[in-house]
Amino acid sequence: MTAAPQPDGQAAVVCAIGAALPPRTVSNADLTARLDTTDEWIRSRTGITRRHVAGADLSTTDLVVRAAAQALAGGEPAPVQALVVATTTPDQCCPATAPAVATRLGLTGIPAFDIAAGCTGFLYGLATAAGLIAAGTARTVLVIGADRLAALPDPGDRATVPLFGDGAGAVVLRCGSADEAGALRPVVLGSDGSGADLIRASRPGALHMDGADVFRHAVDRMSTASRQAATAAGWDLTEVDRLAPHQANSRITSFVARQLGIPDGRRLGNIAEVGNTGAASIPLLLAQTAAEGRLEPGHRTLLTAFGAGLTWGAVTLIWPDLSPARLPEGAGHDR
Ligand code: COA
Repeated sequence: MTAAPQPDGQAAVVCAIGAALPPRTVSNADLTARLDTTDEWIRSRTGITRRHVAGADLSTTDLVVRAAAQALAGGEPAPVQALVVATTTPDQCCPATAPAVATRLGLTGIPAFDIAAGCTGFLYGLATAAGLIAAGTARTVLVIGADRLAALPDPGDRATVPLFGDGAGAVVLRCGSADEAGALRPVVLGSDGSGADLIRASRPGALHMDGADVFRHAVDRMSTASRQAATAAGWDLTEVDRLAPHQANSRITSFVARQLGIPDGRRLGNIAEVGNTGAASIPLLLAQTAAEGRLEPGHRTLLTAFGAGLTWGAVTLIWPDLSPARLPEGAGHDR
């Protein structure tokens, strides 16, 4: 499904970004000490060398607040009027994460709610924020994707433990015009509940995943959604300067780039350092690569994600010129 373009040339425009990672890292070598696996297997099958893992003293809510605070640190053109948190690993079922985050940020009173769409949650969050802006509910919306996925696998499962890490990433969207840099083009979203059993977790420590089937669906769905998003934006895929795919597995993102005909040098990745961080994956990737200069103002950028549900999505934008103060220091690492 593709959301209709907004009226009167209005658009939701990315104007700030932030990220947060737990300070503790777990390397492949750390995993080989307790699992029947090797560094070589993990790197060659997934592209991952380490992941950041939150201790008991760092909740999902804490990660959300840190990423959000970093995005807001550059000073906003307008006060934030709504807050959306995308996560499938909230600290509790009820209440939602977002109102507590809003209050911790000094934003008590604004609309604040969570959405759960697996690793596609951040793109669902962008579409929701664009809708809030189009509806006139808010002129500036803070969207945070955050997950603590490292806690989901059975600690003895070598097939899933190496894949996941923890983190958060945030963007601020403001009401602007469709022809300026940072303006979101139509957001493509989809779901297929018949694939619900392919990735499911009834509680932390009880993740079930059919890896090979998920791999195949991830490649197909992200490739298709990317084509649809490019078409909706009026772009030819050859014009894409940067592909920013959900970091599930570097082999998956490599296949997606190949299917789209996007040269590998235009595919952004940070999975080696962070693993699969769920709804945090795309904003973390954008924050980190923008800070490093791999993603530059003016780049025609295609975001795409796939996750549990099954869910998927894609959207394009021209990467905006965010002031250096608005980019996270230390490539997204927690300060
Ligand atoms: N170390 C060593 N061997 C491992 C291993 C590990 N960490 N994990 C699995 N293996 C073994 C399996 O037991 C299997 O052994 P067998 O052939 O003796 O049965 C063999 O490696 C191949 O397993 P398979 O699952 O077919 O590997 P794969 O190439 O598909 O890679 C994943 C496994 C999980 C890395 C890959 O399927 C994947 O990334 N899937 C998508 C996961 C994902 O993105 N999930 C989130 C979506 S948002």
